[in-house]
Formats: sequence, structure tokens, C-alpha cells
Amino acid sequence: MRRLADSYRTALVTGASTGLGRAVAEMLLEEGVRVWGTARDPARLAVIEGLNAVALDLDSDASVDAAFAAAGRDADGLDLVVNNAGYGLFGSFDELDFAGWRRQLDTMLVRTLRLSHLALRSMRARNRGALVNVSSLAVEFPLPFMSGYNVAKSGLAAFSESMMMEVAGTGVIVIDFRPGDYRTNFNQTMQAASELDSSPDPARAARRLRAWSVLDANLRGAPLPARAAADLRRALLRRRSGTVRSGAFFQARLAPLLVRLIPLRLRRAAVARYFGCS
Ligand SMILES: NC(=O)c1ccc[n+]([C@@H]2O[C@H](COP(=O)([O-])OP(=O)(O)OC[C@H]3O[C@@H](n4cnc5c(N)ncnc54)[C@H](OP(=O)(O)O)[C@@H]3O)[C@@H](O)[C@H]2O)c1
Repeated sequence: MRRLADSYRTALVTGASTGLGRAVAEMLLEEGVRVWGTARDPARLAVIEGLNAVALDLDSDASVDAAFAAAGRDADGLDLVVNNAGYGLFGSFDELDFAGWRRQLDTMLVRTLRLSHLALRSMRARNRGALVNVSSLAVEFPLPFMSGYNVAKSGLAAFSESMMMEVAGTGVIVIDFRPGDYRTNFNQTMQAASELDSSPDPARAARRLRAWSVLDANLRGAPLPARAAADLRRALLRRRSGTVRSGAFFQARLAPLLVRLIPLRLRRAAVARYFGCS
């Protein structure tokens, strides 16, 4: 049976301390790939046997450059880079502090692209490698009260699309990996959740709370991250650029098909109703 190590000797996975990143790092290690994984506090990575720990804080340009340089040097070139690290910020756009809202774009889009720039430069020079950007099915189904997240992930998906064309015909591939809901710490670390029911306008707070309840219930009932790692493994074995949807059957298979058949106005109304926003 083919193993990923046949195509990728080394990998860097950002946000490997928990959730999807940890599952992906563990899957790659099982496949015989040498893996460098990141966390803001690298001590958190000690639980993953065989992983090379790297400090990365996506709130700092210098940290991005240093993490990539350190991992690249140790690995003698990275064949696979998985941009996975990310977080959510939940709240009404106009009630959130704009600096905090903007930080999500700087962290999850701009500095993730900075890492992509370093990765693609090195991969193109060697004419081999794979860049995986973990976006979200939120690109296709934007979530209420998560405007910064939707913008960051849509930007990342659009970037991946551009890169797929730029690297076509070379030894480098780009994958836009779009998870649906997975049972991780994502909602626990979601920022602004504590302000859920505090708003000068009680009707607004109630609407936000309804949307949060749906998001939270979805995540609690979602598949475990190992499934996402298995989907990514299959995609990497294909060695082709593309968009990969991953998750429960309805979210990852049926819903993307249905939205192509339903007019946008109806789709928007159905999603708003689903999240208690109508
Ligand atoms: N879970 C889902 O349902 C779902 C759905 C669609 C997309 N996604 C995406 O999948 C990715 C992983 O999410 P998850 O669900 O696995 O969440 P998670 O369990 O909360 O893991 C998030 C990871 O990102 C890292 N991280 C967060 N902020 C960071 C920062 N400023 N700098 C560097 N690292 C940072 C965390 O590392 P440390 O805190 O240890 O530094 C952690 O390893 C995210 O991009 C998320 O948007 C998740």
C-alpha cells in the first residue's frame, strides 16, 4: 500500500497542539513522514510522540519567519506545509472592537499567506511539494456573527484557487481543504463568546444566543478530527491540486450540491432561519 512518506519526506503543520492540526500531525507521523508541528507554547506539543516542536505565534511576522526558517533548516526542506492554525471570533460586527476584528484577518489570512509565500518560494525552487490551506465550509455557507472568520477563510480559499492556477503543470500542488463541523476545542477557544448575552439591545442578544446555540450543538455532535485527517490523507495521495470538502455527509456532500441548485435568495433565507436569524 502507498504511504504518504513515498511522496512527502517532511511536513510542517501549524496549530498541531489540538483538534484538526493534531490529528493531521499524528496521521502524517503514522504515514512515516517527519513532522514539525507548531503551537504558541511548544511545550503543549510534547504529547505527540515523534513530533518536532516549533514555536509559532501568528500574531507576529517575526515568529512566522523564524518558525519557517527553523523547521525548514532542521528538515532540510519542507515537502508539505499545512496551514491549519486558526480561531474564531463570535459577535455582532458593529459591537465588536474593530482592532480585535481586524486581528483575525491579520492572523488567519495575512500571516498565513506570509507562511504560504515562504513555503511556495521554497517548493517552486525545488519543483516539488504540497501546500494545504485549511479554510472552511463557511466559505460556502457563511456563519452569522462570524464575519471576520468568513472573510479570512474566503480570502484564504480565493488565494488557494489563484495558486492552483499558478502552479499548474509544475511539481507543486495546492489544496484548499474545507472542513465542515468537527468536534474540537474550536468553540471553547472562540473569542467574545462571553459577551453572548450582553448587548444594549436585548432582541439582538437573544438572536445572537440562538445562533450560538446552533453552532455549539453542531460542533458537539460533529465527527472527530481523525476523519478530517483521513480525508486529507486521501487527497495528498492523489497528488493533485484541488478543493477538498471534509465532514459529515450532509455538510460536506449534500449541502454543497443543493446550493448549486437553489437560488441565492432562498439559500440565504434558509440559512438565516436555521440559525434563528430570520
Ligand atoms: N472544528 C471545526 O469545526 C472547523 C471547521 C472548519 C474549519 N476549521 C479550521 O480548522 C483549523 C483548526 O481548528 P480546530 O477546530 O482544530 O481548533 P482548535 O482545536 O482550537 O485548534 C486551533 C489550533 O490553532 C492554533 N492557534 C490558534 N490561534 C493561533 C495563533 N494566533 N497563532 C498560532 N497558532 C494559533 C492553536 O495552537 P495554540 O493555542 O496551542 O497556540 C491550536 O493548535 C482552524 O483554522 C479552523 O478555522 C475548524
